[in-house]
Amino acid sequence: MENGHKILSNIVATQIASHQRFGGVVPEVASRHHIEQITACINDALLEAQVTYDDLTAVAVTYGPGLVGSLLIGVTAAKAVAWAHHLPLVPVNHMAGHLYAARFEHEFSYPQMGLLVSGGHTELVYMAAPHEYQIIGETRDDAAGEAYDKIGRVMGIAYPAGKQVDEMALQGTDTFHFPRAMEKEDNLDFSFSGLKSAFINTVHNAQQRGEQLDANDLAASFQASVVDVLVEKTIKALDQYPVKQLILAGGVAANRGLRSRLEEDLEKFHPEVDLLKAPLKLCGDNAAMIGAAAHVGYQYGDRADWSLNAQPGLSL
Ligand code: KG4
Ligand code: ZN
Repeated sequence: MENGHKILSNIVATQIASHQRFGGVVPEVASRHHIEQITACINDALLEAQVTYDDLTAVAVTYGPGLVGSLLIGVTAAKAVAWAHHLPLVPVNHMAGHLYAARFEHEFSYPQMGLLVSGGHTELVYMAAPHEYQIIGETRDDAAGEAYDKIGRVMGIAYPAGKQVDEMALQGTDTFHFPRAMEKEDNLDFSFSGLKSAFINTVHNAQQRGEQLDANDLAASFQASVVDVLVEKTIKALDQYPVKQLILAGGVAANRGLRSRLEEDLEKFHPEVDLLKAPLKLCGDNAAMIGAAAHVGYQYGDRADWSLNAQPGLSL
């Protein structure tokens, strides 16, 4: 990354195929893949960027939240590079990285809000100033992406199911009217496990009756419920916390239903707020977003020493 804005290389070693036959990420398998891939990834990144270690100013690494085994491998590799080449080590929170994916196409101005939706998290974050994060709402059970992946499994869709359910949803209609959990409650939190159960019960009951349900309508009904709750809670958050910008980021931010509905409702209820959608190709996990967040962290003095450890439950 050059100056926090310019991506010189963005190498992603995907291991989705290895997890697909288990229907989700197996932590032990993930750690092993990290060990196998990390050195090649670092070398490829330097090659693609056409730089050597001598050109670097700092090394940044995600130290949480996430799977401890995978995080540890990243942290250890980053420490080794920083130590060997006498470079500062910048610790980055994965969720801050997701937010900064939006900065490649937009200038940030504050106060700002983020709707962070990924496979592990669903959070509303208020930022009064750069590098200041306050979680004002979050899921009490499943994350939005996790719910997509779990109902996808019931529908026989390969992990991760989000993208395909999104595509099917666009071909169907909300005929099942699944519950909208916590929609009317006076808080900014989310819950998706009830929706997931309602979905699974509907499918199982139909199977027992020997009835075939329309898969596109099922997907559309599920998505309508997720999008309704995400958008309505975000609008409620904006009523309470006036901001200049709203960032939509995380793997689920690639969802077309969510992107368009958020845009519409923002125009209707908070036209003064600019919507900053993370670019589609940077919604899912990637290193460029971590580099962008690290650039700001670096300016604010974030430095780790050799005692840096993985923090699986790290919060913003
Ligand atoms: O941020 P991410 O790449 O990894 C985590 O940090 O969790 O998010 C992955 C999640 C998966 O659950 C995946 O199913 C979901 O993002 N996802 C989507 C879409 N594309 C990816 N969910 C809904 N609609 C999509 N288009
Ligand atoms: Zn992520």
